[in-house]
Amino acid sequence: MKKTIISSKDVVKIYDTGDVKVKALNGISLEIQKGEMVAVMGPSGCGKTTLLNCLSGLDDVNNGIIKVDGKDIAKMNDFDKSAYRARNIGFVFQFYNLLPVLTAKENVELPLLLAKKQPKEASKTAEKMLELVGLKDWSNHKPAELSGGQRQRVTIARALANTPAIVFADEPTGDLDSKTGKEIMDLLMDLNRCEGITFLIVTHDSNIGKNVPRRITMQDGQIKADKRNKDYDFTCPKAYTNKKFFNDNQ
Ligand SMILES: Nc1ncnc2c1ncn2[C@@H]1O[C@H](COP(=O)(O)OP(=O)(O)O)[C@@H](O)[C@H]1O
Ligand SMILES: [Mg+2]
Repeated sequence: MKKTIISSKDVVKIYDTGDVKVKALNGISLEIQKGEMVAVMGPSGCGKTTLLNCLSGLDDVNNGIIKVDGKDIAKMNDFDKSAYRARNIGFVFQFYNLLPVLTAKENVELPLLLAKKQPKEASKTAEKMLELVGLKDWSNHKPAELSGGQRQRVTIARALANTPAIVFADEPTGDLDSKTGKEIMDLLMDLNRCEGITFLIVTHDSNIGKNVPRRITMQDGQIKADKRNKDYDFTCPKAYTNKKFFNDNQ
């Protein structure tokens, strides 16, 4: 059954910096269904990050409606918005945003402890998440001891820890060489196909956009194209050896 996770209708976002007003989003309407993997493409400055910030409620919009789980996000107070984000959205950024003094495992545990999970449960979940991203043997290492690709895997594990309804990734391969970037994208696609995780991925890398099942192209704050990739194989690859953690637990 189709389940809409996030929808926006005619969303306008204007940054007012005194002298200049920038219309970063100029009438964005879209819907993302559970289980989808959507890439948002477009040149630098076209409004991709602004879109993620508005969809997650980090930024207010000037016009239009954003609905999450059927609820208008503008009608939530700041406390409810933060709670909604913590419970429903996982974030993956270009520059990892990991805490350097914590180990990989501690970084993954952190959002769970903040969500008041028992330390024992947080520990168990963090281990599972790290296993899911292929870092089982690296859980006690700090970010400085990990490669860029490994750090991004920790970020992905952290984003998944609270079993979010959707993961927002902003340029997740932007700081990586092309081979490592492809490995990270392959991991995200496996998590989508095999674990049913919903992704919205922002990237200006057209190679990435080519491979995902749905690609939205933005230009000057508007959606120029919204295309499905007919060749995308939705079946979980045989090589995927992890336990189907999310499929079993959702
Ligand atoms: N906090 C801000 N204040 C003022 N202008 C901003 C702010 N954030 C983004 N912009 C402007 O909004 C437009 C869209 O930016 P952004 O969403 O970051 O684009 P992208 O992520 O596609 O590179 C750009 O013109 C940018 O300069
Ligand atoms: Mg951006």
